[in-house]
Amino acid sequence: MMGWPCGCLKLVSWLCLVGFVSGIGANWGTQASHPLPPGTVVQMLRDNGFQKVKLFDPEDGTMSALSNTGIQVMVGIPNEMLADLGSTKAAENWVSKNVSSYIKDGVDIRYVAVGNEPFLQTYNGSFLHTTFPALQNIQGAVTQAGLSSQVKVTVPLNADVYESSTGKPSDGNFRSDILDLMVSIVKYLSDNAAPLTVNIYPFISLYNDPNFPIDFAFFDGTPASPVVDGSITYTNVFDANHDTLLWALQKNGFGNLAVIVGEIGWPTDGNMYANIQYAQRFNQGFMKRIASGQGTPMRQGPIDAYMFSFIDEDQKSILPGNFERHWGIFYYDGQPKYQLNIQTSKSGTLVGAKNVKYLDKKWCVFKPSVNLDDSRVAPAASYACGKADCTSLGYNTSCGDLDARGNISYAFNSYYQMNDQDDRACDFQGIATTTDRDPSTSKCKFEIMIEPNSAASWRLAAVRGQGYGLVFFALLPFLLVLL
Ligand SMILES: *[C@@H]1O[C@H](CO)[C@@H](O)[C@H](O)[C@H]1NC(C)=O
Ligand SMILES: *[C@@H]1O[C@H](CO)[C@@H](O)[C@H](O)[C@H]1NC(C)=O
Ligand SMILES: *[C@@H]1O[C@H](CO)[C@@H](O)[C@H](O)[C@H]1NC(C)=O
Ligand SMILES: *[C@@H]1O[C@H](CO)[C@@H](O)[C@H](O)[C@H]1NC(C)=O
Repeated sequence: MMGWPCGCLKLVSWLCLVGFVSGIGANWGTQASHPLPPGTVVQMLRDNGFQKVKLFDPEDGTMSALSNTGIQVMVGIPNEMLADLGSTKAAENWVSKNVSSYIKDGVDIRYVAVGNEPFLQTYNGSFLHTTFPALQNIQGAVTQAGLSSQVKVTVPLNADVYESSTGKPSDGNFRSDILDLMVSIVKYLSDNAAPLTVNIYPFISLYNDPNFPIDFAFFDGTPASPVVDGSITYTNVFDANHDTLLWALQKNGFGNLAVIVGEIGWPTDGNMYANIQYAQRFNQGFMKRIASGQGTPMRQGPIDAYMFSFIDEDQKSILPGNFERHWGIFYYDGQPKYQLNIQTSKSGTLVGAKNVKYLDKKWCVFKPSVNLDDSRVAPAASYACGKADCTSLGYNTSCGDLDARGNISYAFNSYYQMNDQDDRACDFQGIATTTDRDPSTSKCKFEIMIEPNSAASWRLAAVRGQGYGLVFFALLPFLLVLL
């Protein structure tokens, strides 16, 4: 769905620069032990009609796969790099390598996202002093590169940068501890005709507050006590949250600033509220909202938003919660989790990855002959869970109904698959064994991993090469002595 008639006519092409593609984009994260090949993911984006993608890092394989696809790209800068980008030279190098050269190669970069939720309260202010200078330097470098009309520079913020003491959107303002900083950033974005990007998570509202009225999290609910704000009645938390930001902007003199919803979605596992039914209900509701072009009570018109997330990532930190590895509308192997009409796809439903190469139909399980109270069991299971992924175990999760033996098998199998079914990864001091009988139950899937993709194994080879190089140089002095 194009917001503007973007033909190839020179005459109208300037419209394409100022207009934007409405409709839904996707967040493509790659913190996975076995990421799908970038080409496969790009094909999935196209098959599902996604015209926009948001990346957290300009990885070369990802960028190359997006080249000459017509997919618009928002490329992110990790928080850890913000301090370095306080130097104008470093920012120029970053833009030259990670924006200009990819644009030359045919990647349609539209946004640079400086940092990722840098003011999140759990970061304890770690990025408070580095974000704005990095934003200014990256914007400066983009302008200097002659790209300022095509590439907008923004900062994706968590919704906790603003608040409302009464819960009414009209009482919204930026968090008091960062008010001045936020106003400076917002003014800077406004001066550069750039949007503010905000991540809004109704799931987190529910997760954090057991008293949160569940119907208020969804778009089709009729909550018992909606939020009444003057003449407006809010029946869902997305609208209320989004409009709290709009009020905060308006109060500080920037009521017209463009807003992008950088992340929105619902996880499917790892918590009692993270399940397929709720995820489908939320995401389908949001899709409908996007398609209607109706906006929120405070701002009519299309919403520019990116789903979080496209594909599950099994290496994400679970500090925020076990659900963190299950945000995808697709599983790790690119298969759809549920029916979702995303309007943009020709088939009207999710189209999965094609030609996925799986490892053998083999699983690793706890040996039936070993007793549960064997002293080797507990350390082995906790080791496996620590290294692999046990976030589907626990109360009201997909594998929450397994018995104790099932739990242990699940952990062993996860570790075995993550290690590419290496026999040595299914031993655990003799208490594990491989099987070709699928231990999955109707609710709980014992996964078979996909083949490591060639780009990733190339990276591994490169790292190994480097390792040997280092060993060689470390040994050099001794070799010289021997000579
Ligand atoms: C380009 O981006 C990558 C990934 O964030 C980063 O590691 C690299 O240092 C950047 N290049 C330059 C020249 O800054
Ligand atoms: C923030 O501070 C808390 C409490 O002092 C600490 O537990 C946590 O590890 C800190 N987080 C970061 C990212 O520094
Ligand atoms: C949690 O699990 C219990 C028992 O299996 C079930 O009765 C309940 O409905 C579940 N709750 C949710 C929110 O799924
Ligand atoms: C299985 O493991 C989960 C997560 O560690 C735990 O909550 C559950 O109680 C275990 N079930 C049994 C029967 O031990």
